[in-house]
Amino acid sequence: MGIHLGRSSFGRMENTGRFLSRQEAQELLDTWVLNERLKVHMYQVAHLMRSWAIEKCLATDQEAWKWELAGLLHDADWDQWPEQHCKKIIEELESRNIDPEVIHGIASHGHRHFGVEPVNELDKMLYAFDELSGFIHAYSLMRPGGYAGMDIKGVRKRLKDKAFAASVSREDIQDAADRAGLSVDELIQFIIDHQGK
Ligand SMILES: [Fe+2]
Repeated sequence: MGIHLGRSSFGRMENTGRFLSRQEAQELLDTWVLNERLKVHMYQVAHLMRSWAIEKCLATDQEAWKWELAGLLHDADWDQWPEQHCKKIIEELESRNIDPEVIHGIASHGHRHFGVEPVNELDKMLYAFDELSGFIHAYSLMRPGGYAGMDIKGVRKRLKDKAFAASVSREDIQDAADRAGLSVDELIQFIIDHQGK
């Protein structure tokens, strides 16, 4: 998945505080992401990022949008240009003079693939939410009640079942939680609480 980016600096400091508007972000998503399942994943990660920023970091509106935007666009190039993931979206955002923290967050959401370390909390949470969000969504789809009544124990059981959502790296989930200074259980609970709504 994706390519090694070969650099660690993204965007320009003078663009701090510059974001796509919600409408511009939606247009980019609609043009680049044709796969509806991937789009759902982007919305879910965006919602988790926004919720975390507001609840845990007491983010302002602008800060919350920064987190949400990183979540919304992190896989934007995966659908049509998987071989260029996530180089293409990074270059697009750099050419549009977007805040370097949004771009760095996207660049570091898979450090094993892209070779960019997550540094700040936004980076770490995007990495942490990415695979676990999709994993828990896959689990909800096989439960008769969806998210209703879902608990940590059930998710843990699926994590132990190597055949379930086999493409999701259990190692990355643990690594991401460690880097964020959280337990996997805390992450699971936050996702159950926010994604089910
Ligand atoms: Fe993702």
